[in-house]
Amino acid sequence: MALYSEKVMDHFRNPRNVGVIEDANAVGQVGNAKCGDIMKMYLKIEDGIIQDVKFETFGCGSAIASSSMATELIKGKPVSEAMKLTNKAVTEALDGLPAHKLHCSVLAEEAIQAALEDYRSRGGEI
Ligand code: FES
Repeated sequence: MALYSEKVMDHFRNPRNVGVIEDANAVGQVGNAKCGDIMKMYLKIEDGIIQDVKFETFGCGSAIASSSMATELIKGKPVSEAMKLTNKAVTEALDGLPAHKLHCSVLAEEAIQAALEDYRSRGGEI
């Protein structure tokens, strides 16, 4: 079996929602001290719904694929649902990641959590 699923390769080669949202009202950045990879998420939240989401990831292919899939999973969803997104759900949506790459999907979960924390600190309701 190939090390990476078709979905991982697809999201790595053609990542969805890459970039910056200039007027984002929730921004979160996290990093992994061991590998040095960094992930930043921008959310535009209106009426409790994630209207738009973009990311910048300076990291490995699995981190890029995880960020891309995570953005797809929360776009158009209520913030309360995005709060519950786990790295397990991201990994499953990608049809799996090798065990030594699971931490890359954790970054995606943490980046979204950090952005939602930022939203809350700005007075947003979750
Ligand atoms: Fe660190 Fe992938 S190797 S995020």
